[in-house]
Amino acid sequence: MSSKDSTSKTLTVAFFLCVICSILVSGTAVLLKPRQEANRVLDRNKNVLSAAGMFDALINSDEEVDQIFSRFTPRIVDLHTGRFLLDAELEALQIDVESYDQRLVINDSNYSEAIPRQQDLANLKRRVNYQMVYIMEEAGELDTLVIPVSGYALWGILYGFLALEGDANTVKGLAFYELKETPGLGAEVRNPSWTGLWPGKQVYNDAGEVSLRVVKGAGSGDFQIDGLAGATLTSHGVDNLIQYWLGEDGFGPLLADIRSSRGGR
Ligand SMILES: Cc1cc2nc3c(=O)[nH]c(=O)nc-3n(C[C@H](O)[C@H](O)[C@H](O)COP(=O)(O)O)c2cc1C
Repeated sequence: MSSKDSTSKTLTVAFFLCVICSILVSGTAVLLKPRQEANRVLDRNKNVLSAAGMFDALINSDEEVDQIFSRFTPRIVDLHTGRFLLDAELEALQIDVESYDQRLVINDSNYSEAIPRQQDLANLKRRVNYQMVYIMEEAGELDTLVIPVSGYALWGILYGFLALEGDANTVKGLAFYELKETPGLGAEVRNPSWTGLWPGKQVYNDAGEVSLRVVKGAGSGDFQIDGLAGATLTSHGVDNLIQYWLGEDGFGPLLADIRSSRGGR
C-alpha cells in the first residue's frame, strides 16, 4: 500500500468520524432541548413557590411541584403602564406566556431598554419592560403576588423573587436563586434565618412611599430588616433592589393600583 493511499484513507476516516460525531452531538442537543426547557420551568416554579413560602423539603416529586404551582397564574406586566398585558397585546408582542424567558430578551430593544443612570437604583443598566409575575387567587380575591427582583450586589447581580400578600403591601417572602456573593458572607441572603426576617414586613407607608429598608445592625418595626453582619455591601444591594423594583420605575404603579382597588394605602 502506497503512503499516498494511507494518508487519504486516514483523512477519509477522520472526516467521517467528524461528521458522525457532529451529527451525534447536535442530535443529542436537539433531543435534550425540550427536557432542558422543562427543567428550566420546573426550577423557576420551585423558586416562585419558595418565595411564597410554599416550597419545603417535604415536596419530593416534580409532579407535586407542578400541582402546587398550578394554583398560580403567570401574567405579564408592562412596566410602562403598570398593568397586565391583554391577550391581543401579548400576541402583537409575540410573547407566549408559557415559554417566555424574560432573561433571554434583556438585550433585545423590542422588549427591554437601558435604565437612565439616575433611575438605576439597583445598578442593572438594562431592564426588560415586560415582566412575568405570578398571581394566586382565593375565592376570587388576590391572595399572593410574586414578582421577579434583581440588582447588583458586591460581586454580581442577585436574581430572586419577592412574594407579597394580596394587599400588595405585606411581604410574604423573599428567595434569591442566583448570585455570585461569597459563601458565608453575602450568600447568606439565602440563609433561612435571614429570609425568615422578611414575612410580615410592610413595604409602603401611608403616603404610598417605599419604606421597607435593609438597615445596618438591628432593624426594628414593620419596615426594617437587619442587614447581614459582615456583608454590608450585599445587604446594600438587596436594599437597592427593593427600592427599585417596588418603586415608581418598577412594579410600584401596578402595586398602587391593586392597593387602591382594595381600598388600601
Ligand atoms: C474575600 C472576601 C469576600 C467578601 N465577600 C463579601 C460579600 O459577598 N458580601 C459583602 O457584603 N461583603 C463581602 N466582603 C466584605 C466586604 O469587603 C466588607 O468588608 C463588608 O461588606 C463590610 O461589612 P460589615 O460592615 O458588616 O463588616 C468580602 C471580603 C473579602 C475579603
